[in-house]
Amino acid sequence: MCGIVGIVGQQPVSERLVDALKRLEYRGYDSAGIATITEGTLQRRRAEGKLVNLETRLKAEPLNGSIGIAHTRWATHGAPTEGNAHPHFTGGVAVVHNGIIENFAELKEELTAAGAEFQTATDTEVVAHLLARHRQEGMGQGEAMHAMLKRVKGAYALAVLFEDDPSSIIAARNGPPLAIGHGDGEMFLASDAIALAPFTNEVTYLMDGDWAVIGKGGADIFDFDGYPVERPRQTSMAAAYQANKGQHRHFMEKEIYEQPEAIGHVLAHYVSLIENRADAVPIFDFASIPSLAISACGTAYLAGLIGKYWFERYARLPVEIDVASEFRYREIPLSPQSAALFISQSGETADTLASLRYCKKLGLKIGAIVNAAESSIAREADAVFPILAGPEIGVASTKAFTCQLAVLAALAISAARTRGTVTETEVQALVRSLAEMPRIMSQVLNSVQPKIELLARELSRYHDVLYLGRGTSFPLAMEGALKLKEISYIHAEGYAAGELKHGPIALIDKNMPVIVIAPFDRFFNKTVSNMEEVAARGGRVILITDQKGATASKLDTMHTIVLPAVDEIIAPMIFSLPIQLLAYHTAVFMGTDVDQPRNLAKSVTVE
Ligand code: F6R
Repeated sequence: MCGIVGIVGQQPVSERLVDALKRLEYRGYDSAGIATITEGTLQRRRAEGKLVNLETRLKAEPLNGSIGIAHTRWATHGAPTEGNAHPHFTGGVAVVHNGIIENFAELKEELTAAGAEFQTATDTEVVAHLLARHRQEGMGQGEAMHAMLKRVKGAYALAVLFEDDPSSIIAARNGPPLAIGHGDGEMFLASDAIALAPFTNEVTYLMDGDWAVIGKGGADIFDFDGYPVERPRQTSMAAAYQANKGQHRHFMEKEIYEQPEAIGHVLAHYVSLIENRADAVPIFDFASIPSLAISACGTAYLAGLIGKYWFERYARLPVEIDVASEFRYREIPLSPQSAALFISQSGETADTLASLRYCKKLGLKIGAIVNAAESSIAREADAVFPILAGPEIGVASTKAFTCQLAVLAALAISAARTRGTVTETEVQALVRSLAEMPRIMSQVLNSVQPKIELLARELSRYHDVLYLGRGTSFPLAMEGALKLKEISYIHAEGYAAGELKHGPIALIDKNMPVIVIAPFDRFFNKTVSNMEEVAARGGRVILITDQKGATASKLDTMHTIVLPAVDEIIAPMIFSLPIQLLAYHTAVFMGTDVDQPRNLAKSVTVE
């Protein structure tokens, strides 16, 4: 949700700011903007839409200056227009912001009554006006910043330039992350260390409530009460990756095809955890915890839901799970003896982080299943379980999802072993199944594409699609629907197959294809009965099954996608592949922006 960059440099900064913004575009692409101080004057360039538009603007109207801030926006308040793009200027102050100023309406009223003239529909502009007012009252830059922070409520990462101080950027964090980068006679600031990778790997993360005055030679950090604080300087592992699609048309396609290799890395990392004794699991004593809580958002939540089935079935461990936006406010009475797992690709999702903090306060042991090793969620957890998927650029999560599943499967087996709920022979069989995954995934990816493309072409003509599944195929049905809707904009719903007759069956007609995910498992016959119910009402069924299921099903389907028969524990990972490919190819046929679908962002740091 919005990316922020700042440079206090010795050389012109505008090109470097844009380069860093490119690495943050995953956080939002509604508009972009940049401000520098040139010959004592604040200057800015802004453009609606993707960063490329700002680049074009800067080519036509370059910006000089060796100090600057920049922003890529995911709109919360105010339409994604150039007028609402950051940086916001007023009274010699420039501000970029990630987050939401929750009390902006009352502040705006107060400031307007005092004569301030607002130019945008954003919540952020109140920050610029408050700062300008405090300066007019005679406060210094730092004093004005501190006074402003005492007035605003909500979540923010902020970077501010004062026209009368071309030597420093003032930054503040409460919620969304901010990393200060230490260069050689230059200093940097960004929402994510990955944006700073070309400049420095020495970073200091601000903590919630911190604000900092960043000059060329270093940064002075203060807490919310204005007292100086020390924050550790660390070497960031965020590699200077070059985002590159290889021979693929989109990052999403590349990431789908990277899954066999990514899953291989996960298995190599976790197999020792499963095979060693229980105490190999850091912090978590699965033998003694009475229950487990899991929370996450979107696709990561659906991975957690599949994990719940595994923890309950194999480890006999009750799991409380909810989407993080509900979990954080439900006041769930959790036992401090329990443990909690939070799942996140970005490691920055605001609701997931808030749920983590809720559980931490209650005294639960906290585990983080994350892709971004240096993220807030990773830093605040007692134990980190990396998902090792590598950078995921496509906004729709693919390889992060299957890697999250692989980690959850490994943890569930480890828990089952520790709790003595499976025999050693069963553990070995489960591990053998997991080890088969990379090979089977490659086989599926190499074989299903032509059929999926045909099906995708047909699907792209419909307006509504229903996905059904039972057991772990139920969360997968929801994931299939989520993937399709977010990149093709076709309306889709995922349902438990058994729920069909409790309402959604009313929707069935020839205009709504029903995609049934049914590996030949212990639920197969029941799911087939639900499929029959759809067919009997003129519905068109697309069956995704395995060889055994295809042989057993006698139904005349619109299409049947046949996968290799696999053990139940790896079926969700294997069946994810046709589901992802189907969404991908449908979106390609529809001509949507697959990697950066409308209205979305890769990192969601607001509620
Ligand atoms: C969907 C998708 C989102 C994310 C969700 C959580 O394809 O990617 O639903 O899964 O926004 O994000 P993370 O995993 O970064 O917490």
